[in-house]
Amino acid sequence: MTTTDPDHGASQPVVEMIGIQRSFPGPPEVEAVRDVNLRIMDGEYLSIVGPSGSGKSTLLHLLGLLDRPTAGTYRLDGVDVRSLSERRRSMLRGERIGFVFQAFHLLPYRTVLENVALSMLYRPISRRDRIDRARATLERVGLSHRLNFEPTTLSGGERQRVAIARALAAQPTLLLADEPTGNLDSGNADTVLDVFDKLHAEGLTLAVITHDVDVSYRADRRVRIADGTLTEQWDDVPTPEAAT
Ligand SMILES: Nc1ncnc2c1ncn2[C@@H]1O[C@H](COP(=O)(O)OP(=O)(O)OP(=O)(O)O)[C@@H](O)[C@H]1O
Ligand SMILES: [Mg+2]
Repeated sequence: MTTTDPDHGASQPVVEMIGIQRSFPGPPEVEAVRDVNLRIMDGEYLSIVGPSGSGKSTLLHLLGLLDRPTAGTYRLDGVDVRSLSERRRSMLRGERIGFVFQAFHLLPYRTVLENVALSMLYRPISRRDRIDRARATLERVGLSHRLNFEPTTLSGGERQRVAIARALAAQPTLLLADEPTGNLDSGNADTVLDVFDKLHAEGLTLAVITHDVDVSYRADRRVRIADGTLTEQWDDVPTPEAAT
C-alpha cells in the first residue's frame, strides 16, 4: 500500500468540487457556474454570498445532487458522484443531504410533529421510532412546546425551524440552506441563525447560501459568488498589521 496522500490522517472533506461548471444551453447559453473549486470540511459552517443571478441556487442544486455539472469532479463524502446512476444519486442525496429553502414547504393540515415524522415515512424504521426521532429533532431546534401546532399558527421563524428539524431528521452529513431567512423579518431571522449556530456547535456541517451580507457573516468561513465564479473572502482575517 502506498500512502502518498499529504493529508493522510486529516479529516476528509465532506464536499470536494474541482473545476465544476454548469451551463444552460439556451440560446443564449448561460454559464451559471464556472470553474468552481470548493472544499467543505467536516463540521465547517460555510456561507456563500452573492447577488441575484450570480449562480447561488445553481451551485446549491449541484451541491445537493439535484442537478449535474456540465464539467468537473464532485466528491461527496469521498464518493465521486459523476459515475453514479440516477437511483444511487437520489439514495445518496436522501442519506447525506438536508435541504432548507426560503419557502418552508410544510404540510398545512398536519401538526409540527407530523410534518417532521412524515419526512421519514419511507425509511426502514417503525412509526414509533419516527415519532421519537421527530420529537428529539424538534427539541434540538427549540420547538418542544409546539409539537401539536399546525404550521399556519406559527411565526415565520418557527416554521423555518420546523423545516430545519425535518431536514435534520434523516441525520444528514451536510445541511444546505438556500436563502433560509429570505421570508423572515430580522427578529425571526435571528432565531433561525441562532439555531444554525447551535447545530454548528454540535458538529453539523452547514452551507448557507444568501444574498444578505449580515447573514453570511454568521458563518465561520465565507465565499463570494459573482457571475458564477467563487472567491474566498479573507477580509475577516486580521491583516498582519492588525495582528501586531
Ligand atoms: N434552468 C435554467 N435554464 C437557463 N438558465 C438558468 C436556469 N437556471 C438558472 N439559470 C440562469 O443562471 C444564472 C444563475 O441563476 P441562479 O438561480 O443560480 O442565481 P441566484 O444567485 O440563485 O439568484 P437569486 O438570488 O435571484 O435566487 C441566471 O442568469 C439564471 O437566469
Ligand atoms: Mg437563488
